[in-house]
Amino acid sequence: LVSFVVVLLLLHVAASAAADGGRFVYHGFAAANLTLAGHAAVTLGGLLELTNATRQAKGHAFHPEPLHLLISKPATAANGTAAPRSFSTCFVFAIVSPVHDGLISDQGLAFVVAPTTALSAANGGAQYLGLNVINDGSASDHFLAVELDTIMNPELGDIDSNHVGVDVNSLVSQRASSAGYYNDRAGGAFQELRLNSREPMQVWVDYDGQARQLNVTLGPGRVPKPKRPLLSMNIDLSTVVADPAYIGFSSTSSIMLTSHYVLGWSFCLDGPASPLDFSKLPFLPPVGPKPRSKVFVVALPLAIALLVIAVVAAVFLILRRRRRYAEVREDWEDEFGPHRFSYKDLFHATDGFKDSNLLGVGGFGRVYKGILAPSNLEIAVKKVSHDSRQGIREFVAEVVSIGRIRHRNLVQLLGYCRREGELLLVYDYMANGSLDRHLHDQQSPALSWNVRYRIIKGVAASLLYLHEYCEQVVIHRDVKASNVLLDGEMDSKLSDFGLAKLYDHGTDPQSTHVAGTIGYLAPELIRTGKATPLTDVFAFGVFLLEVACGRRPIDHDDRNSRIVLVDWVIEHHDNGSILDVVDPRLVGKYEREEVILVLKLGLICAHPLPNIRPSMRRVMQYMESSQSIPPDLSLMRNEGFDSYVSLDDLSIASIGSSSVTILLEGR
Ligand SMILES: *[C@@H]1O[C@H](CO)[C@@H](O)[C@H](O)[C@H]1NC(C)=O
Ligand SMILES: *[C@@H]1O[C@H](CO)[C@@H](O)[C@H](O)[C@H]1NC(C)=O
Ligand SMILES: *[C@@H]1O[C@H](CO)[C@@H](O)[C@H](O)[C@H]1NC(C)=O
Ligand SMILES: *[C@@H]1O[C@H](CO)[C@@H](O)[C@H](O)[C@H]1NC(C)=O
Repeated sequence: LVSFVVVLLLLHVAASAAADGGRFVYHGFAAANLTLAGHAAVTLGGLLELTNATRQAKGHAFHPEPLHLLISKPATAANGTAAPRSFSTCFVFAIVSPVHDGLISDQGLAFVVAPTTALSAANGGAQYLGLNVINDGSASDHFLAVELDTIMNPELGDIDSNHVGVDVNSLVSQRASSAGYYNDRAGGAFQELRLNSREPMQVWVDYDGQARQLNVTLGPGRVPKPKRPLLSMNIDLSTVVADPAYIGFSSTSSIMLTSHYVLGWSFCLDGPASPLDFSKLPFLPPVGPKPRSKVFVVALPLAIALLVIAVVAAVFLILRRRRRYAEVREDWEDEFGPHRFSYKDLFHATDGFKDSNLLGVGGFGRVYKGILAPSNLEIAVKKVSHDSRQGIREFVAEVVSIGRIRHRNLVQLLGYCRREGELLLVYDYMANGSLDRHLHDQQSPALSWNVRYRIIKGVAASLLYLHEYCEQVVIHRDVKASNVLLDGEMDSKLSDFGLAKLYDHGTDPQSTHVAGTIGYLAPELIRTGKATPLTDVFAFGVFLLEVACGRRPIDHDDRNSRIVLVDWVIEHHDNGSILDVVDPRLVGKYEREEVILVLKLGLICAHPLPNIRPSMRRVMQYMESSQSIPPDLSLMRNEGFDSYVSLDDLSIASIGSSSVTILLEGR
């Protein structure tokens, strides 16, 4: 309630003040002769410490000499009362509280004019600045106090928890104002001051005995006295103060362990008090952190909250970004660095793998079109799901070595990227898509024989290159129409070589997965699970028939019964009606010799016995017409072709748009 109350007790005014007691200046109280009571003490540094951070403490400090603040009237005066004298005082105080949020605060401090220095006897409580709350009418209770109050006590009608008030015989202030001053340097604008800011502040109390006017002025340390007082009131002190009266300070500390200090004090009767020189004042004891101003009380938690929100959001975004672009990268991949793409780049190149960029869904995964940012290079990104970590290392090594393979009829593999459970392969983009679509989609215009023949020669050239001209023999394992892509000039490029091998590495050594596409699988591959160049030749043979006939390797006729393309062509061959198998859309528009060559070549390549099949080199020679195909294809008869594979034995691993890739469980 009352934080720092200076109580001036004015008693009856004697004729004159004591010559030595009417004027004094203290810069620090080390040498001062004060009457102290309660917890009040003068520190070694010279501070007057009214309360010293002790609970329920009160302290008083008075000028030892009583002063005559009233002038006795001549005896002739009708009512015999006295007139008040003028006086002026100023002092510097500081309130050092452990908590400064403006809501919780301690009692305050007051400048007091009182009839006695024995105030503690008058009121036992540690509340109310050590002063009487309500005057009971006895003269000994009369007092004048200027309170510096840091507690709002509704009982006493306090206006707020940071105010200056003038109390007459009662702590219910006659005048009060929120603490502050009219700043002359700001054009007289009112500026708030926090009494318990731990900063020294100055108070001026001026009384004009003639005009019966009391002015109270507050100001921050070192600022000259503001022109406009904080409080100004008319009061006849002759009815209030005793004569003689004691002047001094009173304070209490209750719960908050607040310390109240007076640093300097100047007083003068019948004249202006000497100004205090701040440079001569003692220092306040070092305290903890600076009190938080109102700005901090509001802004700091807000700023912290915003900061926390920002940090959380940033972490969230970073985590999301990390998850979105997360890759799997292991030490052994370092050597393949140049072939490694970042997922982020691929993500942006394909617009986040948007469906509108989907080129197709094949046996091994989805293929997206993309444009790499800096170079505007068109790419195709194949996402291959791959859960097992096994074999991935060998596969990546192979992918990279395949990346070094360059041939005009091979789709260039540019690199790869790995994510959890996923492998991404980056290829050159092929403008005209897969041959499969052109062959079997009835909507697209029929491919001419010339184009087909060029495509076949291209595929043969690429297989020959893989089998014989690479550092190591590379087996494609999945030759089929849907793996033949066409560039802008309708030139063929074989893609996806080696990919089937990824599925070759079974996690279970007991089982052997055979990878490839049903209809293109050589019989011995199904039996042994071992891929060889000749198993590629078998698939190539089926592919030749597919291109010439425009039919899938395993097709269905009108009555929905299964037609195995190879058997069907053999049948016509044996019946001497081989040209009946040619794609009806080509009738009359093909080179007879070339078509027969391709059909016969297809049959011999797709021979069930591997040692009958020609190598790719021989195939190329046949196509260059330098050698004729052995006329006897009787060995092609293969009753029981179907019995190599019963579909029931096959577990269907994935179903692509145009073909079925199978895994055969070995038992
Ligand atoms: C302090 O003042 C009191 C009252 O006037 C006086 O009795 C005392 O001797 C003074 N002490 C000193 C040290 O001046
Ligand atoms: C406060 O003052 C009292 C009385 O003078 C003393 O007993 C106590 O030790 C002081 N406490 C502190 C913290 O200075
Ligand atoms: C007492 O005298 C003063 C001036 O001397 C005067 O203002 C006041 O009214 C008088 N009071 C009474 C009760 O006569
Ligand atoms: C009190 O303040 C008023 C207004 O500023 C001024 O006119 C008056 O002289 C002051 N009185 C004293 C005693 O300082």
